[in-house]
Amino acid sequence: MPTAEHVILRELLTHEKSWVSGAALAVKLGVSRVAVWQQMEKLRAAGFAFDAQRSRGYRISKLPGALYAPLVDTQLKVRPKNFSLHVLDDVDSTNDEAARQLATGRPTPFAVLARRQSHGRGRFGRVWHSESTTSLYVSFAFRPQVEPERMQTFTLWMGLNVCELLANFASVRPGIKWPNDILFDGRKAGGMLTEARVDSDQIRDLIFGLGLNVNRPDEGWPGDLSHRAIALEDVTGAPLDINRLAAALVGRVLLAYQTFVEGAHLPTFADLWNRFDVLRGQAVTLLEGGRRHHGVVGGLDDEGAILLRDEGGKVHRFRAGEVTLEKTS
Ligand code: BTN
Repeated sequence: MPTAEHVILRELLTHEKSWVSGAALAVKLGVSRVAVWQQMEKLRAAGFAFDAQRSRGYRISKLPGALYAPLVDTQLKVRPKNFSLHVLDDVDSTNDEAARQLATGRPTPFAVLARRQSHGRGRFGRVWHSESTTSLYVSFAFRPQVEPERMQTFTLWMGLNVCELLANFASVRPGIKWPNDILFDGRKAGGMLTEARVDSDQIRDLIFGLGLNVNRPDEGWPGDLSHRAIALEDVTGAPLDINRLAAALVGRVLLAYQTFVEGAHLPTFADLWNRFDVLRGQAVTLLEGGRRHHGVVGGLDDEGAILLRDEGGKVHRFRAGEVTLEKTS
């Protein structure tokens, strides 16, 4: 059952270029015009601004710059059975919150989004800078019935879907750097952290976390992130609507998950990988378990392991590790 706020938002968003009359909203909702006005005040407090004319009604003139749950919810086009969405102001880590909710038996799939994280985590226990409300921090929880070996390709497949969604949504050309980085011009715009609990030979539950720099942080990037990080806004030259992007991303990830568990991703995987991969043919160093390996990237094998050709022409496969491009001078 949609709330009055959802109905009003839907009307305003579908008539973004025209006007929505307060009287018509009141009739539609079966409430007084004062009640509609109160809802509009609530939206203003959440960061919306409206043009308002007595004879015509309301029109959105500004959207909130940070996540706003009803705005994500209203614009969500994919809603599998049992799906629920949680938008939090602050959390330690959306991955940790998803794990806690899984432990309470909450039905899957669900998504946890936060405006900020106090302990955002990256791969190898690194800190993921999460103080900016202009970035997205989201985790998805699933209970897939697949073998643990398929985990590696899961993150890669999700990364490809995020890249394709961004390319379509913002007319940009993202790149994916094996296994979990989303880049523009060699700088990182997004990272993924997949965590699973495994029971003997089956995945019990799976959390897919994504951090994405959407708009430039008002306070700038801290320390050396200013050289390594990039926001989508830096690429498009204009701020993006973070709530519309969040809704599109949630929808895309839910569909991508479905495709993956059905095994229906296989026919398109290689084409998408070739489209977004930034490493093929590049000389790289791969750090794995404290050892450095040098080679030229030949692509991936069927299990999502990266293939490196060494100086002698021998091909080595790595299931995990961190890749850096070798400097050419
Ligand atoms: C990486 O590049 O090392 C992965 C970064 C993953 C960050 C996201 S933000 C949402 C989710 N919650 C976390 O604590 N981490 C992931």
